[in-house]
Amino acid sequence: MRVLGIETSCDETGIGLVDSSAGVVAEALFSQVGIHRPHGGVVPELAARDHVRKLLPLLRETLGAREMDEVDAVAYTAGPGLIGALLTGAVFGHSLAWALGKPAIGVHHLEAHLLAVMLQGAPPPPYLALLVSGGHTQLVAAHDIGHYELLGDTLDDAVGEAFDKVARMLGLGYPGGPEIQRLARRGRARRFEFPQPMARRPGLDFSFSGLKTRALQTLRHCGDDDDRCHADIALAFEMAAVGSLTERCRRALGQSGCKRLVAAGGVAANARLRRELAKLGGDGVEVIYPEMKLCADNGVMIANAGLLRLQAGQTPDPLPQVRARWPLTELQPPRAA
Ligand code: KG4
Ligand code: ZN
Repeated sequence: MRVLGIETSCDETGIGLVDSSAGVVAEALFSQVGIHRPHGGVVPELAARDHVRKLLPLLRETLGAREMDEVDAVAYTAGPGLIGALLTGAVFGHSLAWALGKPAIGVHHLEAHLLAVMLQGAPPPPYLALLVSGGHTQLVAAHDIGHYELLGDTLDDAVGEAFDKVARMLGLGYPGGPEIQRLARRGRARRFEFPQPMARRPGLDFSFSGLKTRALQTLRHCGDDDDRCHADIALAFEMAAVGSLTERCRRALGQSGCKRLVAAGGVAANARLRRELAKLGGDGVEVIYPEMKLCADNGVMIANAGLLRLQAGQTPDPLPQVRARWPLTELQPPRAA
C-alpha cells in the first residue's frame, strides 16, 4: 500500500510518499520561516496563504504521473494546529483523493510525530514518549497506536516556545531553538546557572516560563551587544531546559518500568537533549530519537501515520474535517466505522 501524506498544520508545507514495504519513496518540504521571521513568530493568515501557494508545486516536485497512479490513499493533518493552515491541507487532500478515486484520511499531528520513529525501523508502541515542539511539551505513555496516556504536560509555555522567546530576547532569529543551540556552544558553563524548573516538585509536569523570566533578568547584567554574555545566557537556559526534560524522563522511566523512550518533535533535534537522553539508555533501557529530518514537521510522518491506521482497518474520512485543538488522549485505536 502507498500513502501520500500532506502536512500543513503550521509553517511547514510537507508532502511525503510512503510505501508499506519500501518505506519512504519521495518527499518534499517547504519551510515558511523566511515569511514569518520578520514578525518573530508564525502569522496564521500568512501561513494558510502560503500553503495554498506551495501545495501543488510541491506535489509536482514529489510525484510524477506514474507515482500518482500508484497512490492508494491520501493522508493529511487534521489537527491540532492553525485552523486556516489545517483547512488548506484537508481540502487539498480530499480534492486530490476524489480526483484519483482513492480514499482520504485525517491524521493527528502528534500521533504522527510519536510514530515517526517506525519509519527508521523502530518497533511500534508500547513506549514512553517525550513530545517536545513549539506547541507541546508532554510525556506520554504510548500503549498502542491510538491509545495514549498523558503522564506530564507543561503548566505554561511549551519548551520550543521558550527557546523561541529567549532567542528573541537575545536578538536571535526565528525559529530560536537552533540559534540558541549555536550560541550556547560559545557559552561559559558556570557564568550563570539557572535552577532547573520544578526540580523539587513531584510528578511529571513541566514549566518553562520561570526560566524565560530568569533569562530576561540576567540579560540586565550584559552590556549592549555583549555577545559573550548572551552566549552565557543561552548556555544557562539550554542546560536548565534540557536538564528538566531529561530529569522528567528519568523519573517517568523509573515510575512506569517502561524500557523504551522515544523523543519526538522539533526540539528533539537539540544536540544537548539528544546527548543527555542517550545517557538514560543502558540497563535494558533503549532511547530512540528520530533522524534529524523527521524531528521537524514533514509530510512523510503524516503518510506513515495514515498508512498504519489504514492497514489496521480504519475507515477513511468521507469529508474534510479539522480541529485546531485536539488532545492526543481523545484518539481511539484504528477501527472500521
Ligand atoms: O515540531 P516542530 O517543527 O513544530 C511544531 O509542531 O511546533 O517544532 C518547532 C520547535 C520550535 O520552537 C523550534 O525553535 C524548536 O522546535 N527547535 C529546537 C531546535 N530545532 C528546532 N529547539 C531546540 N534546539 C534545536 N536544535
Ligand atoms: Zn510538529
